[in-house]
Amino acid sequence: MHILHDNYTVGENGHLFVGGCDTVALAQKYGTPLYVIDEGKIRSNMQRFSALLRECFPAGSRVLFASKALSYVDIYRIAASEGVAADVVSPGELYTACKAGFDTADVYFHGNNKTDADIAYALDVGVGTFVVDNEDELLALDRIAGQKGKTQPILLRLSPGIDPHTHKKVVTGSVDSKFGTAIETGQAMSITERALALQNVLLKGFHCHIGSQIFDSAPFIEAADVMLAFIADVYRKTGFLAEYLNLGGGYGVTYTEDTADLDASRVLREIGEKLRTFSASHGIAVPKILIEPGRAIVAAAGVTLYTVGSHKTITGYRTYVSVDGGMPDNPRYALYQSDYTALIASRAAEAKTERVTIAGRCCESGDLIQENAPLQPCGRGDILAVLVTGAYNYSMASNYNRLPRPAMVSVRDGADRLVIRRESYEDLTRNEL
Ligand code: LLP
Repeated sequence: MHILHDNYTVGENGHLFVGGCDTVALAQKYGTPLYVIDEGKIRSNMQRFSALLRECFPAGSRVLFASKALSYVDIYRIAASEGVAADVVSPGELYTACKAGFDTADVYFHGNNKTDADIAYALDVGVGTFVVDNEDELLALDRIAGQKGKTQPILLRLSPGIDPHTHKKVVTGSVDSKFGTAIETGQAMSITERALALQNVLLKGFHCHIGSQIFDSAPFIEAADVMLAFIADVYRKTGFLAEYLNLGGGYGVTYTEDTADLDASRVLREIGEKLRTFSASHGIAVPKILIEPGRAIVAAAGVTLYTVGSHKTITGYRTYVSVDGGMPDNPRYALYQSDYTALIASRAAEAKTERVTIAGRCCESGDLIQENAPLQPCGRGDILAVLVTGAYNYSMASNYNRLPRPAMVSVRDGADRLVIRRESYEDLTRNEL
């Protein structure tokens, strides 16, 4: 039997298993809080997206892993071995990819405010493609690339002006956005013409990303339509034919039993159809498609394990179950009121007869992992598992209240391997003089 996603299973001993490993045993071996990441699930997700691209789009189309969802050395090695490229959004992510020996030709460098130093660093390590956000960055890149005697391949990030119907904090593709250059205002056309005229950049195509955690296929299709119309427009006006169209990420993943993942295969097949019609009606070659899933590759690969501490009921109000982590290792409930499924790892299949608020250990009332959450009865010392924490948990972690970041253990086919050491108190003061 599985719980929520097919890699969360219940063993004969009633314990929650992930990647073939008993989570109670992992908590004992490595301590808590502990991030557990299922390498097998990450690989199968990468393979699934790559197979879909092969089915729907021209050769040369590629999956880029949006590594802001989960950036640590080992994941770039996994991506490389699966033939998946990487989207990095900062020099820190780029450095991590380099440290993993990731081929920088397969790196796409994002960001709405790349500093001159970031640009120089990325040029020095040979980043394959810059995704240029705006005209200011375009000119800076052209200047710095010129100084270094390089011609840098680029995509231009455009805002297609689509409403993706998701949480407002994760919408990115609207006209009034800090990301990209708007098509609607005519600025996308002018930045394109500018890019084509510059000496030290080489325009390869366009990018858009409309937002994250999207469950409706319509906004993806609309965005693809707008981008294809723009490509045709550019071709008519300038003769430039985009070689690549990067459609970003955003594929929704479910965190509870109430919903289901977005069917990415439906979205991509429909876009594949659009492309063929587009090419026939305009008489131009179909661009190669790039996609940038982050959450859809890693979210359901993760579980966070905590030890239950205080369990208290406020008569007439609610029950708080406090755990030994909280918003520093998972700020998503505090930030977005995100849903999560929690369970007691040693009684995974038992009925959830309690309704509790799962609280962290920080000195802040908003430090909650979930409110009104169904849970098995539990007490001090039990291991509490929160599912679907592979994306935007470790990558958004902090040391608030001087809590060391948890360790991360990678599991696959019943074997476990430490991939990130638990931070020590010494780590907390390492840079302090
Ligand atoms: N490409 C670009 C340009 C992006 O900005 C993002 C996410 C992605 C791809 C990947 O999106 P995904 O497939 O993971 O939805 N911290 C928030 C999510 C912020 C997403 C930012 N950009 C959260 O925890 O829900």
